Amino acid sequence: MRLRSTRPVEFGSAHVIVTGGSSGIGLATARLLAGRGAKVSLIARGRERLADAGKELSAAVRGADVSDHEAVTRAIGELETEQGLPCDILITSAGLARPGHFLELPDEVFRQMMEVDYFGTLYAIRAVAPGMVERGHGSVVAVSSAAGLLGIYGYSAYGPAKFAVRGLMESIRAELTPHDVHVGVVFPPDVDTPQLHDENRWKPEETRVVGGTLKPLTAERVAAAIVDGIERRRFVTCPDAGTRALARFGSVLSPLLNREFDRRIRAVRRSRLAGTPRSADG
Ligand SMILES: NC(=O)c1ccc[n+]([C@@H]2O[C@H](COP(=O)([O-])OP(=O)(O)OC[C@H]3O[C@@H](n4cnc5c(N)ncnc54)[C@H](OP(=O)(O)O)[C@@H]3O)[C@@H](O)[C@H]2O)c1
Repeated sequence: MRLRSTRPVEFGSAHVIVTGGSSGIGLATARLLAGRGAKVSLIARGRERLADAGKELSAAVRGADVSDHEAVTRAIGELETEQGLPCDILITSAGLARPGHFLELPDEVFRQMMEVDYFGTLYAIRAVAPGMVERGHGSVVAVSSAAGLLGIYGYSAYGPAKFAVRGLMESIRAELTPHDVHVGVVFPPDVDTPQLHDENRWKPEETRVVGGTLKPLTAERVAAAIVDGIERRRFVTCPDAGTRALARFGSVLSPLLNREFDRRIRAVRRSRLAGTPRSADG
């Protein structure tokens, strides 16, 4: 297994741990890496989906809630023992999104987003980073979101947790890269996964209209971008042109996007007052 910048990544001898590996982006990434010969380990809570994914990919699995520091640390330790290898690549994909109006969301939701999306990422990275630094190689990749690049109507609980993930990865990039540990962060837009379907049940109309009519990406496309990002040791991975532009030119684009989004939101409010529904393209 080599992750030094001068040599190609050999997935065939790598132990890859994927949190949230039983579904969506995590599962698609695990599938791709298992196909490249990696030893794959998966962490999630729901035992049934985890067992199915484990069987399909011949992966080792552990049930754990990533927001439970002790449980996720223990799960990673047990997976390293079971696979007979320390973690070479960690992908933190476990997460959940609960949109809603800021004035209506319960306090508990704000806390839950931070606990799962942010602390769930932090705890897993803290479990593997010391070993990677000691060995002088490894890769840690966290899945943030387009909502971690731009404040979006309806994402006042989820967005800040994904901004926090981005801040964490930016900080540790500076600290771990000198030890030859690659650090990456991924900013997917909408992706067709069970999370998106669940999220859609809660989305305010304004959030839908701001999102427009863009077709969600497939989890496979995001997975391919993640694997490519690891191979190229990229810090930022954006699976589409929109998030790529936002990641590069966010401070210039945000005021323009916000002006357009505000226009769409005003249109929703006007039509709500008039009693007629709006279409998603504003
Ligand atoms: N889908 C999108 O549009 C989109 C866009 C941008 C970013 N993202 C991010 O991409 C990541 C993957 O999302 P996805 O769309 O692939 O969702 P998904 O299909 O619902 O998969 C989420 C995975 O995370 C696991 N998980 C959730 N909460 C967990 C917890 N507390 N502890 C351990 N595992 C947990 C789930 O399994 P269990 O529920 O069984 O634990 C599942 O394996 C998330 O971080 C999400 O925020 C998604």
